[in-house]
Amino acid sequence: MAKKVEVCAVGDLPPGAKTVVTVGARRIGVFNVGGSFYAMLDVCPHQGASICEGPICGTNKPVDDYRYEFMMEGEIVRCSRHGWEFAIKSGECVGVPGVRAKTYPAAAESGKVFVTV
Ligand code: FES
Repeated sequence: MAKKVEVCAVGDLPPGAKTVVTVGARRIGVFNVGGSFYAMLDVCPHQGASICEGPICGTNKPVDDYRYEFMMEGEIVRCSRHGWEFAIKSGECVGVPGVRAKTYPAAAESGKVFVTV
């Protein structure tokens, strides 16, 4: 059964910030992207390192056969070990189709941030 867990006060996690909390045996990264909250298991699907110790950033994506453009600024977290990039909102790995970090619902309510695990 899903459990809603209080993480922190909304004011402690401003836009662009992240925090890592322990819920039972799980470490979960909680992010504020543009005023909305997202949560991701802090275990990289590549080789199990901490994703959330890596930087929040953007990524380069191809826009046609010859050009890449930098995009999704503030919506990507880069794994601390080998640099695989994950979309914070969905958990999708940017460069490896079909690979995804586990995500959890997160939301603000009554001035506090909650994650449902
Ligand atoms: S362990 Fe995360 S990219 Fe390798």
